[in-house]
Amino acid sequence: MHWAEWATIAGGCVAMVMPVVVAAPPQPQCSSTSPLGGGIPMPAEFQVLQDRYHEQILGSLGAQGCTKDSIAKRRSWDDLEDETRKDYIRAVHCLANKPALTDKSLAPGAVNRLDDFTYIHINQTNIIHQSGYLLPWHRLFLWQLEEALRNECGYEDYLPYWDNARFSADQTKSRVWDGNPATSFGGNGAPRTPPGNGGAGPNNNSTFQLLLIPGLVIDFWLPMPLGTGGGCVMTGPFANLTLTLGPVAKPTRDPVNKYGYLPTPRCLARSFDPSYTGGASLTWENATTASSNFVKGSSGCGTGSRTLLLGATARTPFSPTNDPVFYLLHAQIDRLWAIWQGQDLQERTYAIAGNRTFFGIPLDYAPEVPPSLATIEDTMEMGLEFRPLTKEGMPMTEFGRCYIYV
Ligand SMILES: *[C@@H]1O[C@H](CO)[C@@H](O)[C@H](O)[C@H]1NC(C)=O
Ligand SMILES: *[C@@H]1O[C@H](CO)[C@@H](O)[C@H](O)[C@H]1NC(C)=O
Ligand SMILES: *[C@@H]1O[C@H](CO)[C@@H](O)[C@H](O)[C@H]1NC(C)=O
Ligand SMILES: *[C@@H]1O[C@H](CO)[C@@H](O)[C@H](O)[C@H]1NC(C)=O
Ligand SMILES: *[C@@H]1O[C@H](CO)[C@@H](O)[C@H](O)[C@H]1NC(C)=O
Ligand SMILES: *[C@@H]1O[C@H](CO)[C@@H](O)[C@H](O)[C@H]1NC(C)=O
Repeated sequence: MHWAEWATIAGGCVAMVMPVVVAAPPQPQCSSTSPLGGGIPMPAEFQVLQDRYHEQILGSLGAQGCTKDSIAKRRSWDDLEDETRKDYIRAVHCLANKPALTDKSLAPGAVNRLDDFTYIHINQTNIIHQSGYLLPWHRLFLWQLEEALRNECGYEDYLPYWDNARFSADQTKSRVWDGNPATSFGGNGAPRTPPGNGGAGPNNNSTFQLLLIPGLVIDFWLPMPLGTGGGCVMTGPFANLTLTLGPVAKPTRDPVNKYGYLPTPRCLARSFDPSYTGGASLTWENATTASSNFVKGSSGCGTGSRTLLLGATARTPFSPTNDPVFYLLHAQIDRLWAIWQGQDLQERTYAIAGNRTFFGIPLDYAPEVPPSLATIEDTMEMGLEFRPLTKEGMPMTEFGRCYIYV
């Protein structure tokens, strides 16, 4: 399979649209985001969807100790106080300085608590992307990170999101990238040397490089944009972050270190690409489409283009988690899914669609298993002995969780 198919599926939001009739204009329940830090203001069409989501969620509370008073608010990074941003960055460093809990025999390269997350994300990549599990799995994954930041490192707020729609004109204008060494995520990576190392060959040129996804019965190549950086991130609080897990998808097969579990110490790299960081994609229009007509339990509307925003370390589906900003990017996806669910909680909370593996391609250790559809009764593997049913990853106000995106 090649670029054309990947792009269609990663960028498009088609199929199995569940229409919903939006009732009388809802009353805003949570204070809506008024851009403190600039960007394109939320358009009325999106505001209607968000208000209905707030109204529906707040109206559904009462059980399991989740109430209007106790519900956590996940906010846009651009709306956080400096103190909160500083504390988030501090807590990420705190996890980076705590030892990994993952069994060393599974992943000798898992060194710190952040690596526990990257390890299980790599381990599950071919099951949780372009599949029915994408959204519930990542919802729990984000929640586990939020819990670790709060319970193990004393972070007092909740997981923020990077509002890509608000910064679609230029994603680098978000405060995520304001360059402040204490309150941002730094910036682009240094230019790679030598420039343009994509190598010769079809779809493998000075702007794109073909990478092979391991673990599938077929050779699946991802053409990845090389971007404008490619080298180490030199500014901001993660300039000296040492990564050890991955990379996984590579230009050639790597039988010795197939999933990048062996230690490969290196810097955090980024490679912004103007065709992803600016302009056409991830606009308010996209966000509105996603939140109103999200593919029923989508297998990944726009996920691909989101990690391509970052390039380099984050460019393949396996270990984008090595870039700490991954979690803010995925929180935006979780938010759009939440707003979609919130239009009709009864019909949509547990809606699922998609295969059990990446595009339904059989995995190499089970080549005879034909594609089958994911169900909400399937068990998901979250790492560290946490194996919830898929349905447990779907509501935001049950199973011990209690949060809302504002
Ligand atoms: C994932 O981890 C399990 C052990 O928990 C292992 O058996 C399996 O081979 C791993 N899969 C991949 C793709 O790394
Ligand atoms: C793409 O370039 C890499 C070097 O960066 C090379 O190893 C690989 O063989 C090339 N692939 C093709 C299909 O030409
Ligand atoms: C490089 O590869 C990409 C991806 O397949 C393709 O779209 C682009 O046209 C190629 N560029 C050149 C200069 O060949
Ligand atoms: C990174 O390391 C260099 C050299 O030790 C040091 O000068 C710099 O302040 C460090 N940057 C951060 C953000 O820790
Ligand atoms: C955003 O919307 C445009 C226009 O509808 C579409 O071409 C593009 O694929 C969308 N991008 C994403 C990431 O969904
Ligand atoms: C599910 O798997 C089948 C068989 O491989 C494939 O044709 C179909 O496109 C897959 N669906 C999605 C949404 O990836």
